[in-house]
Amino acid sequence: MGKFYVTTPIFYVNDKPHIGHAYTVVIADILARWHRLKGDDVFFLTGTDEHGEKIQKAAEARGVKPKQFVDEVVEKYKEAWKVLDISYNKFIRTTDKEHEEAVGKFIDKIYKKGDIYKGEYEGWYCVPDETFLTDSQLVDGKCPMCGREVKKVKEEAYFFKLSKYKDKILNFYKENPDFIIPNFRMSEMANRLEGEVKDLDITRKSVSWAIPFGPDKSHFVYVWVDALTNYISALGWPDGKNFNFFWPADVHVIGKEINWFHSVIWPALLMSAGLELPNRVMVHGWFTVDGKKMSKSLGNVVDPVEISKKYSTDALRYFLIRSAKLGEDSDFSEKALISKINGELVSNIGNLISRTVSMCKKFYREIDGELYKETGDELVKQFDIEKIKTLMDNFMLYEALEELLKFVKSLNKYIADREPWKLRGKQLGDTLYNLLEGIRVFSILIYPFMPSTSLEISKQIGVKLGSIEDLKFEKIVYKPKYGRYIFSRVK
Ligand code: MSP
Repeated sequence: MGKFYVTTPIFYVNDKPHIGHAYTVVIADILARWHRLKGDDVFFLTGTDEHGEKIQKAAEARGVKPKQFVDEVVEKYKEAWKVLDISYNKFIRTTDKEHEEAVGKFIDKIYKKGDIYKGEYEGWYCVPDETFLTDSQLVDGKCPMCGREVKKVKEEAYFFKLSKYKDKILNFYKENPDFIIPNFRMSEMANRLEGEVKDLDITRKSVSWAIPFGPDKSHFVYVWVDALTNYISALGWPDGKNFNFFWPADVHVIGKEINWFHSVIWPALLMSAGLELPNRVMVHGWFTVDGKKMSKSLGNVVDPVEISKKYSTDALRYFLIRSAKLGEDSDFSEKALISKINGELVSNIGNLISRTVSMCKKFYREIDGELYKETGDELVKQFDIEKIKTLMDNFMLYEALEELLKFVKSLNKYIADREPWKLRGKQLGDTLYNLLEGIRVFSILIYPFMPSTSLEISKQIGVKLGSIEDLKFEKIVYKPKYGRYIFSRVK
């Protein structure tokens, strides 16, 4: 047993969450639930990033004060994460007083270290991505990440000596080859670091909605420096109990477009402040919708709340993980979701459970109300539980889910091979017992992915949902009671 600190990026609150945001947060939730199952002390952090220029602009466009605007959107995030069963321990807002104070202290620390100097910024700024860009980074004069218009900025600014940390970070990568996963994302960062690294503008003149910059209050803190600090301010840095216990983060879960911020800028800021670096940055790919990038103008933005309500939260959670390996891009379409629901959740998982439970009820008298206990591990033995544990510990959620599905298939095959309805007495009791044992083990391992389904399965087979210690053959007397369908076929 240990501690596990997992974070999601904090979300810009210019609009309600979409399926891409749900993806990040579901990954983190699965990791958090897995570690709780293992008995670890877990701190799962998510929240909202509220001081950006784009937020200020969105509020202006609606004719309301930024604070009123963000307060409304934040509620939409909280509601969505409730629907998606996101078990965060803390929801941080960068407008929280404690956070704002911590940002002040963090800047102060770096300033005193001599890593901040005054200069002038001249270059480009992408408001939607809140990113400074150089001429050479632009693609056809537009933002290389989002493809949108950028604006020219020329203003007095304070800079952080990012270049000073370039070699230190490269060394850190060498010493910690698993710092960024998947690995090719680390090579991307290393290549960029080996080229020219400019110091980072860390203040904005025009964004008066942001946190004032302590050393010179006519400036405001650049939103990314403010946002990254949330990972420590949420723990009560500098001297909070949680900070001492949970820092460094075990994993920052992020999307691919914000890797530079998390794997270069954040480590450099931490080094400057004399703090430990996170253990890992897990970089996931992007979701497109029906093969296209999601965008308001295309009108193809998918609302995870609507999808959850229409199909079920667990079906969506399952789909998000099942559609691609973490790190790869994937596509969302209702058609693909329906096909996973019918083809895997209903046909494999749902079917296994309803068949087993109804056979148990039907043959209860036949086996004298007793399910035999001698051979319960026959099937469980076929199932490589250690492998799943390792996959989960290594953030290989797609692969773990695949193993789980394989196991379900083998249980279904076991029913087909044994034809329990043709058996009598002990043979029948043993068969049903083996199936129930398999299902019980499955119900535990599927818990991080589909928490309510997992609870429903345990209820149906009449046991309490177990923990990691229960992932072995047990002498349980089963009394299955329910026979409801877990998933329904979608037409
Ligand atoms: N506010 C910053 C993060 C600051 S963290 C200190 C930010 N916010 S965001 O709302 O734009 O994005 C939050 C997360 O959602 C990122 O991990 C991003 O990769 C993810 N996604 C946004 N759109 C996505 C898809 N279409 N697909 C998958 N994830 C994507 O960046």
